Amino acid sequence: MTSKTVAQLLSQDVTLQDVTIKGWVRTFRANRFIALNDGSTINNIQCVVDFENFDEALLKRITTGAAIHVTGELVESQGKGQSVEIVVKTLEVLGDSDPETYPIQPKKHSFEFLRENAHLRTRTNTFSAVMRLRSSLSFAVHKYFNENGFNYMHTPIITGSDAEGAGEMFKVTNLDVKNLPLNEDGSVNYKEDFFGKETNLTVSGQLEAETYAMSLGKVYTFGPTFRAENSNTSRHLAEFWMIEPEVAFMDLAGNMDLAEDFMKSVLCYVLENNKEDLEFLEKRLLDEEKTKPQAERSDMSLIEKIKFVVDNNFKRVSYTEAIDILRNSKPNKKKKFNYIIKEWGADLQSEHERFLVEKHFKCPVILFDYPANIKAFYMRLNEPDSEGRETVRAMDILFPGIGEMVGGSQREERLDVLKEKMKALDIDEEELWWYLDLRKYGTAVHSGFGLGFERLVMFATGMSNIRDVIPYPRTPQNAEF
Ligand code: 4AD
Ligand code: MG
Repeated sequence: MTSKTVAQLLSQDVTLQDVTIKGWVRTFRANRFIALNDGSTINNIQCVVDFENFDEALLKRITTGAAIHVTGELVESQGKGQSVEIVVKTLEVLGDSDPETYPIQPKKHSFEFLRENAHLRTRTNTFSAVMRLRSSLSFAVHKYFNENGFNYMHTPIITGSDAEGAGEMFKVTNLDVKNLPLNEDGSVNYKEDFFGKETNLTVSGQLEAETYAMSLGKVYTFGPTFRAENSNTSRHLAEFWMIEPEVAFMDLAGNMDLAEDFMKSVLCYVLENNKEDLEFLEKRLLDEEKTKPQAERSDMSLIEKIKFVVDNNFKRVSYTEAIDILRNSKPNKKKKFNYIIKEWGADLQSEHERFLVEKHFKCPVILFDYPANIKAFYMRLNEPDSEGRETVRAMDILFPGIGEMVGGSQREERLDVLKEKMKALDIDEEELWWYLDLRKYGTAVHSGFGLGFERLVMFATGMSNIRDVIPYPRTPQNAEF
């Protein structure tokens, strides 16, 4: 008799049989009904114990959180709420759980409390559903790229360059911080450091991905990235996972098509493969919505929202058009925005992005052709517009409830233009010599984007805090676990 998972036993085509199963007790009711979960599904299997056949001392050890091994007969259920149940023949407690101190009691816990107990929070329905969805989405990412001819590339985590030029990096060093080797001018002598130069944790694998795109054609990286921005918001992490495809001979329009097709494909995958978890999370959200005033309630359920994204075209809007919309919008005119949009060139804040997707267009929006001076150095410069303004072929994809999900661009492939841009921004040519080489040897149009994986998981699960969609969130003042 081989061990089965709860998911297998609850699947429709299972035959009634003798079974053996291991899992954790969710509840033990009336000294008779054990709700057992093993993480394979949101659902528990009911194990029915005839207490007369078991030692009282053993039954006392069947507490919430305990690990047990059950053998018995899978039969059609006598009661309501489940199709099958196990009539227990033997029962072994593998690991006791003290009911007095076990943090995950069978009741509603706040997400704050569960964050403090992140090592146990996947013992709850909500977090096990979220993390199964995260895993599934991650698989769907690799599946999509694999089926579309992309090579998976592992870009370095430790890097000597700052891809985004934002300077929000974590230093990597093995120097003795209490006794730093100094240069004559008092600055730290990194020549004595492990790598013989200053190094950081990467903020993006893009620059390295570009090198491989210019030989392997279509590549993507999917790995951890690090940002030391001190933004304590529900959408920022100091360590997050980013998906970055990069494609040779593809322009900005192709980049938009790829991003849209990719996102629809992975969302479709979870709609088809994670139905039960999505239904559970949808119900959780509906219950939460009921506690809100009518005006703040969402008019679509979780699954409806995902289907809406899958079934409808993303709206493509230039930065210039977006500024016009925002300038003429009610919250701008009534000075409801914290940052009033006065003129072309303003950087968009999340309040503006949210207005565009949630109030104005009511769908995902791809904003493109941003002013050159608010975007990174590597973006392809456009011809000046009719009013002589300089824009770059950048695109941001904005999602309802999330804001910026994707940032990408067509890359500057012209050596002279790129060099000039770097000079203006004081970026050291020598440090990026290899990046410039790509523009010397067989340069060509190429594009790519970065998608913040946790923001995608937030959208697919309806979770509203990014700390709740990654196993162990790293945020300012917090690196527990
Ligand atoms: O817009 P970003 O900064 O773009 C890049 O890093 C480019 N090099 C990507 C590329 O073209 N290959 O970041 C991309 C995405 C954002 O749109 C957002 O979804 C996510 O990464 N992101 C974060 N997610 C969580 N926490 C943070 N602190 C994030 N910063 C960016
Ligand atoms: Mg961005």
